[in-house]
Amino acid sequence: MSAPGGLLRRTRSGRNHRHGPGAPDGAAPLGAEHLAGPAGAQEDGRHRRRHLGLRARITLLFALGAAILSGTIAAITYYSVRSSVLDQQRASLTHEASASAYLIQPGLSPTAVYYARLLSNTASSDASDTLLFHHDHWYATAAAFTPPRPLPRALVDMVASQHTAASQTIVVNGQPVYAVGIWISPAQSAYFELFPLSEAARTLHVLLASLLLASLVVTLGGALVGSWAANRALRPLHEAAQAALDIAGGRLDTRLETEDYADLAVLTSSFNRMADRLQERIEREVSFTSDVNHELRSPLTTLAASLAVLEGRRDELPDRSRRALDLLSAEVRRFRRLVDDLLEISRIDAGLSDVSMSEVSLGGLVRASVAATLKPVPIELEGASSERWVLVDKRRFERIIANLLDNAQHYAGGATRVAVSASATTARVAVEDEGPGIPPEERERIFDRFSRGSSGRRRGLGEGTGLGLAIVAEHTRVLGGRVWVEPNGARGARFVVELPLLEERLS
Ligand SMILES: Nc1ncnc2c1ncn2[C@@H]1O[C@H](COP(=O)(O)OP(=O)(O)O)[C@@H](O)[C@H]1O
Ligand SMILES: [Mg+2]
Repeated sequence: MSAPGGLLRRTRSGRNHRHGPGAPDGAAPLGAEHLAGPAGAQEDGRHRRRHLGLRARITLLFALGAAILSGTIAAITYYSVRSSVLDQQRASLTHEASASAYLIQPGLSPTAVYYARLLSNTASSDASDTLLFHHDHWYATAAAFTPPRPLPRALVDMVASQHTAASQTIVVNGQPVYAVGIWISPAQSAYFELFPLSEAARTLHVLLASLLLASLVVTLGGALVGSWAANRALRPLHEAAQAALDIAGGRLDTRLETEDYADLAVLTSSFNRMADRLQERIEREVSFTSDVNHELRSPLTTLAASLAVLEGRRDELPDRSRRALDLLSAEVRRFRRLVDDLLEISRIDAGLSDVSMSEVSLGGLVRASVAATLKPVPIELEGASSERWVLVDKRRFERIIANLLDNAQHYAGGATRVAVSASATTARVAVEDEGPGIPPEERERIFDRFSRGSSGRRRGLGEGTGLGLAIVAEHTRVLGGRVWVEPNGARGARFVVELPLLEERLS
């Protein structure tokens, strides 16, 4: 995205969030894209549609401008060339006809009878036909017509009755023909010559076709220039939108470059100011939470130590005090867990929790992680999945499995199996149970912080904190994967953790 000369700049090398394929139907995916949220995705779609419209409009305007301009130039060129070509041609044809009439004149003596042959000898060219009206008789070179056809009556009248030269463009057998009539006064005859104009018409057609083609090319060129200009003009907007999406996706250090687009200085600097404030505020909140957690830990440790002393003397206590002690112990345990979980999640938020990725075999990783929880759960590895390799932070993966098995223990009487499968690019580790399952409306929400499902609330006080699955989601996201829950057959829940697989071993 941050092309040379671009607007976008990352001040810190941001983590590369991998986006996996969509979750199966009925499942609630959580992971990299969860942070941006469905609202983010919707925004993205809306942006794309709006940009497409604007780009198309600019392109269309350029194309339209080019079409109007080139069309006007083509029309002016065509009509001026056409009129000058036709005028010139008519003048020269009239001149030719006059010359022929002049030549024929001596032959028109009262004694000459072979007028037809005379006419063919005098015609200006082989292509033209001649007609003669002499002593009330018509003579013509073309056998195809009988005079005075195809001459229009008006033209014949003009020459034969009014004794003036006249000309007219007529159509003979579908072809344009230029008819010139000359009055030969000494012989009292009307001489007509018909010149085919098809050559000129063809030339003009070729000219018209070339001009139309040129204007089409110019229009396409205009559209191309328009699309290029639209891309250039919209690039800063795209980059700003991308930067906003990046910030929404958790990369708070994303900023816009201010030097590249002087016109947008106000936009970029206010965007960057806003991002600075946002980052500052979030970081302040994160450090506050983490400070609070640290401050809570030491009194809690003292409290737990004192309780341990009291628990050692439990038998000596009266009944009521014993019940009070049990209640206090349960609450302190829960409080400790809450503080531990909060500390863990605030460390992830602050980016303080290190990521130490190592290459491990999928089968080995799952076996070791399940073994670490000391819960006997059958592990089933599908096909060749145990021979595939993943790049993970083992500590985080162990936390994911521990939290999922812990929940299965609490809410479903223990996990029934851990199933491992692998596709070409991803591994799926599913923790299954046959407990009450998760209602569809809770499947996404239970991954939120402090969100406890209906089964969790039923269990009352002293149990969970509502942070277990939020921690699972955060760790999975850091590992480049996703997590979701789906029904496990008719009863129970299946929590699926999807991680990217290595194509081949790195070492
Ligand atoms: N295996 C499970 N079966 C049924 N419900 C579950 C299971 N795992 C989690 N849940 C539900 O998801 C909620 C959130 O879990 P979690 O984030 O671990 O918080 P907590 O366990 O502290 O309540 C729980 O309150 C519970 O309602
Ligand atoms: Mg839990």
